[in-house]
Amino acid sequence: MAAAAAAAATQPSFLFTRRARPSLVSLRVRTVNPAKAAAADPAPAFKSVTAFAPATVANLGPGFDFLGCAVADASLSLGDTVTATIDLSLPPATVSIASVTSPSRPHLADRLSKDPLRNCAGVAAIAALRALGVRSHAVSIHLTKGLPLGSGLGSSAASAAAAAKAVDALFGSRLHRDDLVLAGLESEKAVSGFHADNIAPAILGGFVLVRSYDPFHLIPLSSPPGLHLHFVLVTPDFEAPTSKMRAALPKQVAIQQHVRNSSQAAGLVAAVLQGDAGVIGSAMSSDGIVEPTRAPLIPGMAAVKAAALEAGALGCTISGAGPTAVAVIEEEGKGEEVGRRMVEAFWSAGKLKATATVAQLDRLGARVISTSSFE
Ligand code: HSE
Repeated sequence: MAAAAAAAATQPSFLFTRRARPSLVSLRVRTVNPAKAAAADPAPAFKSVTAFAPATVANLGPGFDFLGCAVADASLSLGDTVTATIDLSLPPATVSIASVTSPSRPHLADRLSKDPLRNCAGVAAIAALRALGVRSHAVSIHLTKGLPLGSGLGSSAASAAAAAKAVDALFGSRLHRDDLVLAGLESEKAVSGFHADNIAPAILGGFVLVRSYDPFHLIPLSSPPGLHLHFVLVTPDFEAPTSKMRAALPKQVAIQQHVRNSSQAAGLVAAVLQGDAGVIGSAMSSDGIVEPTRAPLIPGMAAVKAAALEAGALGCTISGAGPTAVAVIEEEGKGEEVGRRMVEAFWSAGKLKATATVAQLDRLGARVISTSSFE
């Protein structure tokens, strides 16, 4: 009994603390109080839960590492799906990856590890189990990738968000939205870097401002329902690993660049809240720090941006770390033409084949799409 109480008292949960070096923020384990720990180890609410999480556009131009939004198409092909199932054959409090499939890109599944510690969905599922305090049950995961890897559409975050959401729902949806984001952020930290601008909108939906990590503070930016924003996402046949694109970032910025980018990012936030599509577009197009260093690494990107603007887009930039180019438009009917011109520019200026998808703002974020109960 005493041993059980001691074990419960040391059940880990997560706290963000700043290290001695001020630019670094890290997850540290803290001890939760025994009463809370004793209440943990929840029973499963379902035998199995399937959750979907959407693609995300991080940065939105001047919001490098702190702004992002979720996007989806009508058929939910722009996102990843995870089924989490209670698995009595596994040791308690463990996660196993039962399968990884990618119906539209079969070769992609082979590139993803089934080791849960090396798989975005696995890392997030383990973190969610730990945050829930699950000690008596184990979970197996089926991951279905709808997004390509290294595309700038938040592929790793979508897997992590769907896994965290599915595991939480499996045990009765007990976690606060911030805990879900933190579970996904553990995965992001391992795979693409410590930034929540993909995982936060993948969980929350809509536009999200990541204000700080210590304390952890997300600000969902609710745009008026009358704002009809569509995103033309043009993905070339080219991989831009986030690590490589982050290595290219400038180490220092001039104060004038800082002022200019800050005012554009603030303008973008105000425009989202006010539902001003024109200002959203022009602010997105105005990053003078990150986009100029990354665009030359993506063949044809400058011409693609120019083509999008010429074709009537309100703005265009690199989605996340690239190589996807994202243009915003108000009228969905323009999407096909804007996408066609961007695809042509990728080919003529960059010799890259590309595909275009017209998506809309996804206001829901990660959601449960089906459940199965115990008999
Ligand atoms: N903010 C991150 C970056 C997003 O641009 O590196 C990566 O998906």
